[in-house]
Order: sequence, then C-alpha cells, then structure tokens
Amino acid sequence: GDVAVLVPAAGAGLRLGPGGPKALRLLAGEPLLVHAVRRVAAAPSVRLIVVAAPAAEVEAVRELLAPVAPVTVVAGGAERQESVARALAQVPADIEIVLVHDAARALTPPDLIESVAAAVRDGHPAVIPALPVVDTIKEVDPGETVLGTVDRSVLRSVQTPQGFRHDVLAAAHAAAADHLTDDAGLVEKAGRPVICVPGSELAMKITRPLDLILAEALLNLG
Ligand code: C5P
Repeated sequence: GDVAVLVPAAGAGLRLGPGGPKALRLLAGEPLLVHAVRRVAAAPSVRLIVVAAPAAEVEAVRELLAPVAPVTVVAGGAERQESVARALAQVPADIEIVLVHDAARALTPPDLIESVAAAVRDGHPAVIPALPVVDTIKEVDPGETVLGTVDRSVLRSVQTPQGFRHDVLAAAHAAAADHLTDDAGLVEKAGRPVICVPGSELAMKITRPLDLILAEALLNLG
C-alpha cells in the first residue's frame, strides 16, 4: 500500500445526544470507530492508519483497535483541524498519498477509499467524494427570511475520505489560519484544485440519533 489514512475521532459528538465521545458510541454492539477502522483496513492501498482519539481515551482506543487492525493512536485536539494536524505529524515522508476520514462515517465501503486514493494516484492533488444535493436549498437572512433559491445542480454534499498528495495536505495545514470543517477547504484556500469523485450513500455521517437507527438498518441489510 502507498496510502496513509488519518481518522479524526476526538470529537464530543454532542449532536448525537448525551453519552460520551461520538466515535465510541455503539452501533450494533461495536463502537463507530471500530466499524470505520475495520473498513479502512480492508482497503488494499492502505499502509498506515493514524487515529486521533479523545485525550483521555488514547490508551483505551489503542486496546480497542488492537484486535481490529494495526493502528497508531495519538491524542486529538480541541478542533477537528488540530486532530488532523496531530495525526498528520505521524505520517512518514515516503507515503505520498494521505486520506482524511471521519470516524463518524463508520460504514464507508473500502471501495470508496480505493477510488479516492486512485484519483490522487492518477495525478489529482486533492480529491473528495461527493453526492448531488437532494433537497431544494434556500439562502436566508438572519431573520430566516428567504433571500433566494440556490441552483441545486451546481451543489454537492461532500463526504470523507478526502484524499490528498501528502505535500499538498501538509502545506495546507501549515498555512491554515481559520478553522474549516473539512480538509479540502484548506486546500481550496491555498488555491489548489479540488476534484469530486462519486460518493456513497453508505459513507453518510452519523451525526444525529436518527442516523444511528439508519446505520443499524444498513448493517442489517448486510
Ligand atoms: O463534529 P463532526 O461530526 O463534524 O466531527 C467529524 C469528525 O471529526 C468526527 O469523527 C470527530 O470525532 C472528529 N473530531 C476530532 N477532533 C475534534 C472534533 C471532531 O477528531 N476536536
């Protein structure tokens, strides 16, 4: 394999309701992080997996993942971006492709990890999986009055893993001042092209209580 996958898993996950760090919430009896790492490890291109865990859980996460796959576990930071930066610091210079993958996208198929890595290998410095937007999207003012309807055909809902040439991701993080919700945003700010490849419904982000119910149903489908 020629790919490192960073898995930021240090978030509190408050939108899921009370119950501890989101990556450690159970889905069909196993933490989301276990589901996610198992699928990452099943992708043939993957040589190294680095997980950013909640600082208080680093040892517990090491023990949790030891039977799942060989992983490096570091303490995450206060913001997702910092968690990613700390994980990135563990990637040796000879690995040329780095993917960043949220633990919350626990059911992401290994095929999607491969297709993102392949697009980077084919020469794209930054690659993100994306799906068309299904809802009509409105722009509103602070009082919730509609300002207009956005042309849905030019919008994409983006997922992880997001894939990068190692040097491009490192440079984007080094230059990052503001906190963005995804790594491709940092690369965009740095003026580099980012391209989309088809995403997967299975790569949905488990964020709200309903998502856990949907994810459990998807798992039961096999
Ligand atoms: O909160 P959100 O769903 O956007 O988090 C996306 C991913 O980033 C999750 O896997 C979460 O654990 C991770 N994260 C992190 N460190 C933080 C905040 C979020 O690793 N400080």
